[in-house]
Amino acid sequence: MFDASVYVERRKLLKKAVKAGVILLLGNGESPMNYPDNPYHFRQDSSFLYFFGLDKPGFNGLLDVEEDKDYIYGEDFTIDDIIWMGPQPTVKELGKNVGVSNTGTSEDLVKKINETLAKGRRIHFLPPYRPENMMLLEKLLGIASTRVKEYASVDLIKAVVAQRSFKSAEEIKEIEKALDISYEMYTIVMQMAKPGTYEREIAGKIAGIASANGNHVSFPIILSINGETLHNHYHGNMLEKNRLLVTDSGAESLEHYASDITRTFPVGGIFTPEQKDIYQIVFNSQQAAIDAIKPGVPYKEIHLLTASVIANGLKGVGLMKGNMETAVKEGAHALFFPHGLGHMMGLDVHDMEDIGEDYVGYDETVQRSDQFGLAYLRLAKALKPGYVVTVEPGIYFIPALIDKWKAEKKFTDFINYSAVEKYKGFGGIRIEDDVLVTDDETGHKVLGTPIPKSIDKIETLMT
Ligand code: GLY
Ligand code: MN
Ligand code: MN
Repeated sequence: MFDASVYVERRKLLKKAVKAGVILLLGNGESPMNYPDNPYHFRQDSSFLYFFGLDKPGFNGLLDVEEDKDYIYGEDFTIDDIIWMGPQPTVKELGKNVGVSNTGTSEDLVKKINETLAKGRRIHFLPPYRPENMMLLEKLLGIASTRVKEYASVDLIKAVVAQRSFKSAEEIKEIEKALDISYEMYTIVMQMAKPGTYEREIAGKIAGIASANGNHVSFPIILSINGETLHNHYHGNMLEKNRLLVTDSGAESLEHYASDITRTFPVGGIFTPEQKDIYQIVFNSQQAAIDAIKPGVPYKEIHLLTASVIANGLKGVGLMKGNMETAVKEGAHALFFPHGLGHMMGLDVHDMEDIGEDYVGYDETVQRSDQFGLAYLRLAKALKPGYVVTVEPGIYFIPALIDKWKAEKKFTDFINYSAVEKYKGFGGIRIEDDVLVTDDETGHKVLGTPIPKSIDKIETLMT
């Protein structure tokens, strides 16, 4: 964890922003996989981690704004816990490490909440995403667990987003540590991407690297020769010559900050001429997007710029036709690029998505579009120094989508369906990097040691 003063300062800012009432920040507990003592990998709630720093199951935090007091609630280990799990500092000692002197048991939390409710004071909480915490909120507040999300505090959501969106120097260092792990992971992918290897062999190897060097993967590994499926978690295919392998993966640093990188490599190390053409379009679109990143620019604008580089590139190889400005405006490019350019990243790979994507990526100046493709854009608002964002354009040939649009005669002015038909077995290409928005002349910094991505570098290193 960081120094206690970091958490004290974060909580101070949060109390100031929320202004009045009690802020309840629930930690996560263990979650059983197939029986209670066989839990999934433990992952603390990111907002709890951000404000209280405790990376252990079974704790909840509370900030009393008017009293200006911070509390941690949880149980000390019993002798049975110590026998099975080993010794653990007391809740008092744990609190001290993160600058919290008021501690109590779960029963004390119930008492504190009851007192607060009796006084008619407001209790702010974030939208819960785990059933255990929905049930705890029902017990504490008397709101049905199925509806408790609706009562989450918008004031608290906005205050948390306002704080967590700006990464401090120590947070950037953590993200770079996660990116160092990614570098190792992709070095191995490049070495292993040979005909005859199974996807699961590579996925297993890089998951091991993430666990050995940090805190596990930051999201389930996407690794597939069927890269046209955007989030493909199936790892049962054998790699074959002339196929493309998409690997979208990330690691967590020891403090749980994420990396999120995508690379697309030709199996065996040499691109076919068709693959080279499409790869270069994605590469150019990503470079154009990165170059455009600077404070004040809405990310939606950069998404549309990327879409236009993709559309023009596809026109160049005969897959699109007509006026590309109109095509992008109407969303025709989304046949090939059906997702958003990127998202914020921090303690979560999709940072703060649990508390509301629209609060994180949109504001009063920009509303979410309902156009196919653009509707998936997670981050649209103007960039500010200190944001860390992903830049992840792609081109995909999704047979079911091609068939559907062709049958519907959709965008026939812009899409050359007879040419597109030939690409149905092509797969997909995505390239993703993590970028810090800066207030210097360039306006951005691509984080981490560069992981090979130009055609030349990839072919040279893989063969
Ligand atoms: N890791 C999924 C994504 O890139 O958003
Ligand atoms: Mn990714
Ligand atoms: Mn991403």
